[in-house]
Amino acid sequence: MKLKNKVAIVTGAGRGLGKGIALKLAAEGAKVVVADILEENAVAVVAEITAAGGKAVSAVANIARKNEVEAMVSTAISAFGGLDIMVNNAGINRDGQLFKMSDEDWDLVISVNLTGTFYCTRLAAQHMREKSYGRIINIASMSWLGNFGQANYAAAKAGVVGLTKTAARELAKKGITCNAICPGFIDTDMTRGVPDKVWDIMVGKVAAGRAGTPEEVGNVVAFLASDEAAYVTGEVINVSGGMVL
Ligand code: NAI
Repeated sequence: MKLKNKVAIVTGAGRGLGKGIALKLAAEGAKVVVADILEENAVAVVAEITAAGGKAVSAVANIARKNEVEAMVSTAISAFGGLDIMVNNAGINRDGQLFKMSDEDWDLVISVNLTGTFYCTRLAAQHMREKSYGRIINIASMSWLGNFGQANYAAAKAGVVGLTKTAARELAKKGITCNAICPGFIDTDMTRGVPDKVWDIMVGKVAAGRAGTPEEVGNVVAFLASDEAAYVTGEVINVSGGMVL
């Protein structure tokens, strides 16, 4: 078990990638705070981890609200005594071409995907600096390079990459690493929302010829969260089955 007795928070862990990440970290021995805006889903994931012999608690938190992020981190400290691993996974999309994108869709995607990740990273860094140890893993997206219909999402995820590299520089001497993962096309509720035609086009771009699974992203998160990855920081790692080569 790579993560025995480490304490992790995973945001957006009620389903999809976040759920896959939370299950993997728990299977590697971490005590996991399953955080999500939807309580019912978070509680169900906690039940799954507990049934498998792992340790987890739920936290209801909208990461775009600073006070809810503070309460989420307090849950990690009161339930498990600290915070070693912060996985910033929660994210949303509101796709549409730039020329007709509403202010609301721009603001919402930036506030959750970028500002929310900033709130969580800043607070995690404050706690991790005290112990001179920590792992911050941000789930970005290959869309950070620009993607049709995703001006808001691409801008937010590019911001997450900049935040990741800055955090890596500032925190490295304190024993804290910060890396970003860019999943390619992973089978979750978010991607199940696209029309069949778009699904086929997306899978057609993947060298492996299929969508990825949340578990496959969780495996890479678990490595970055472990002591084995102490000398890996500021990296942007694609987990995409060879989508861009
Ligand atoms: P999903 O929509 O299936 O799950 C997202 C989870 O985040 C849900 O449980 C939702 O309740 C929660 N959530 C939404 N807004 C929240 C908020 N403000 N605060 C806390 N929790 C919130 O999405 P999926 O596919 O699992 O995506 C997870 C992350 O991976 C996102 O950051 C997404 O941008 C990223 N990603 C996903 C890809 C994919 O192919 N599925 C590809 C690249 C990146």
